[in-house]
Parts: sequence; structure tokens; C-alpha cells
Amino acid sequence: MASLLLLSLLLMIAVPCHSATCSSQKFTSHKSFDLCNDLPTLSSYLHWTYDPSISSLDFAFIAQPAQSNGWIAWAINPTGTGMVGSQSLIGFQQSSGSMIVKSFNISRYGPIKPSPIMFEVSDMNGEYLDGMMRIFGTMVLPKNMSIVNHVWQVGASVTDGIPDRHQFGSENLNSKGRLDLLKGQSTTRGTTDSRQQLRNIHGLLNALSWGTLTPMGVMLARYSRTFKRTGPAWFYLHVFCQCSAYAIGAAGWVIGLILGHQSNGVQYSFHRNLGITLFCLGTLQVFALYLRPNKDHNYRIYWNIYHHSVGYTVIVLSITNVFKGLDILNPKDQWRIAYVVVIIILGAIALALEFVTWILVLWRKSHDSTGV
Ligand SMILES: *[C@@H]1O[C@H](CO)[C@@H](O)[C@H](O)[C@H]1NC(C)=O
Ligand SMILES: *[C@@H]1O[C@H](CO)[C@@H](O)[C@H](O)[C@H]1NC(C)=O
Repeated sequence: MASLLLLSLLLMIAVPCHSATCSSQKFTSHKSFDLCNDLPTLSSYLHWTYDPSISSLDFAFIAQPAQSNGWIAWAINPTGTGMVGSQSLIGFQQSSGSMIVKSFNISRYGPIKPSPIMFEVSDMNGEYLDGMMRIFGTMVLPKNMSIVNHVWQVGASVTDGIPDRHQFGSENLNSKGRLDLLKGQSTTRGTTDSRQQLRNIHGLLNALSWGTLTPMGVMLARYSRTFKRTGPAWFYLHVFCQCSAYAIGAAGWVIGLILGHQSNGVQYSFHRNLGITLFCLGTLQVFALYLRPNKDHNYRIYWNIYHHSVGYTVIVLSITNVFKGLDILNPKDQWRIAYVVVIIILGAIALALEFVTWILVLWRKSHDSTGV
């Protein structure tokens, strides 16, 4: 059942939806291009005419900047597939309001500055129309370089003529692909990127285990005792729930460590440290099970205090870290909404049960004292 749910969720992530918009996009300055492509991420479009005899590429790149005073960028990467090595053209608005396009030879992560690039570029210019920025240019590519790795990006701000760092959501990290300039096809490693899938799986496993099962297990323990008829069953349910959460969570945690290890250039220290702390606390809780003193033992009260405080800490940290993770993964809004709804439902159930528990406790007390 859980695996079925997981599978359908994975399918939802993996299947992108398409609509060919670029063919309806018009250009003002009697420009036209032979081919166009709806790029799979960041609502971006590429139009171009490639003349193989002189290997010249006339192009227009259209995208919506992350903010109106942000920037858009398109690049060919002759040496790799990502940002490092990309020969980029970045367009943004100047303080006068007009668009400017500059070239950037990006050799590393971190601050960038305008510089010549490997290709001869002419006629660089840009325009800002209906919330979309457009950058134009003509590049002379090396002979026979008709299949290229290209990268595109959008950002939210520009400081002193230098584009600021972009976001690191899944769309931003998957805005790259291979482009056949002659056939017009863009094949993307984008949404089917195995690393991206690993990121999604990491998110799902951890939201399910740490973020959902753990609080459910605690609620089981806290409230099933309110209803005395359940007997010792609650204990086994609690242990089962938390052990499943721990097993699934451990898998998610290991994937997280792998992702962190592979991530070059970007570090999410807070998310990572919180994840490691959580895993240690979770492991402690599982071991606590074996060290549990007998019910009548003198130390049992201390064990209870310890077990409960660590348990509640784990819940708070888990939910915090799921939201941290959502910020990093930046999936479609539905995912965040879905998780918020789950938390609200769990919270509402807990509140209702807390209320019932107190009523029952008070009722039992008054009955005991009147001797009934
Ligand atoms: C781009 O930067 C790299 C690394 O610093 C350098 O080797 C290369 O020559 C530069 N390319 C151009 C066209 O300046
Ligand atoms: C480009 O490719 C064509 C056909 O494959 C070949 O005849 C030509 O020599 C190549 N030119 C260069 C500069 O590599």
C-alpha cells in the first residue's frame, strides 16, 4: 500500500506536462527564426537559426526573470553539462530601464564578472516585454559543432551590473540539456535526471517517515492510553510505528548524505546538520527501548522523562527539517500544501484527543473521590 502510494507519487514527479508555446511567440523587430523549442524548466523558450556552412547561430532566448529587476541567461557549455564552463549571455535591465546583454565566461561557482567568451558574439541586445525578458545575439560556433550542451537560468536581482546568485530549486538545477541545432530537438536530462529523482525520493521518504509517521507514533502512545480498553496493544503499535519510521527514515537519511556528498558548489549545512542530529536522536530512541527499566523500577521515571523529551524534540526538529528540505527541493506548490494539510490534520486530531483526555482524567478523578 505504502509502496503503491510512493510509486504513484514518483510517477507524478517524473511525468512533465508539455505545451508548444514557442511557435506562437512573435518578434517585433521583423526578426524570425527557423526553429524554436519550449525548454522544460523555468518557463523558457529558445528560437534560433543555424547556418552550418558558416556555423553561425542566430538566437533569441525568452524567459521570465525571477523578479522584474532580475536577470535571464542562456549559455552553451562546450566542456561540460552544467554551469561550470558555460559560455553565457546574461540579460538584465539597466537603471535607465533598457535591457543590456553581457557575456560571462563562467569557470567556477561563486561571484562572476563580465568577460569575453570562447565564441565570437555579435548583435547582443535585449528587450523586456509583458513580463518576459528576451535576449538576442549571433554566435560563431566552432565548425561542425551542431549538437551542443546548453544551460539556461533566471535570477531575482542584479547588484552593480552583476547578476546575483539564482535560487537552487529543482527547476533551477535542471535547466540544462542537449540541443541539436540542425534538427531542432532539445533532449533534456532535466526531469528524468537521476540525481533529481534521488532528491525527490529523499524528500518523499523523509517527509513520510520523520515528518509524518514519527508524530503519528507519538500520538498513538500518548492518546491510546486514554482509552483504557486498548490494553498493551498501544505499546506494540507505538513500537511498530516508530521502528517503521526509523527504517524508512534511515534510508532517506542515507540518500540525503549521498546527495550532500555529491553536491558540488552548494552546501545546505543547516538541513544537513539537523538531519544528522535527528538521526542520532532517532537511534537513541530505538536503543532506549532495550534499556527501558521495569515499570516498578526506581529509575523508570527518569527514563520516561528522557524518552518523552527526546521524542517531542524529534517531532519538532523533523517537521522543521521537512520544511527546510521543501525550501531546498522547491517542488510544485501542491507538495508543500499537501504536507501542510497532513500536519494540520495531525495537529487537529492531537488537539481533539488532548481535550478528550483531560475530560476523561477529570471525570475519573471526580468519580474516584466520590467513591463511585
Ligand atoms: C574562460 O575561463 C577559463 C578558466 O579561467 C579559461 O581557461 C579560458 O581561457 C577562458 N576563456 C576565455 C575565452 O576567456
Ligand atoms: C565537418 O563535417 C563534414 C562532414 O562530416 C566533414 O567533411 C568536414 O571535414 C568537417 N569539417 C571540420 C572542420 O571538421
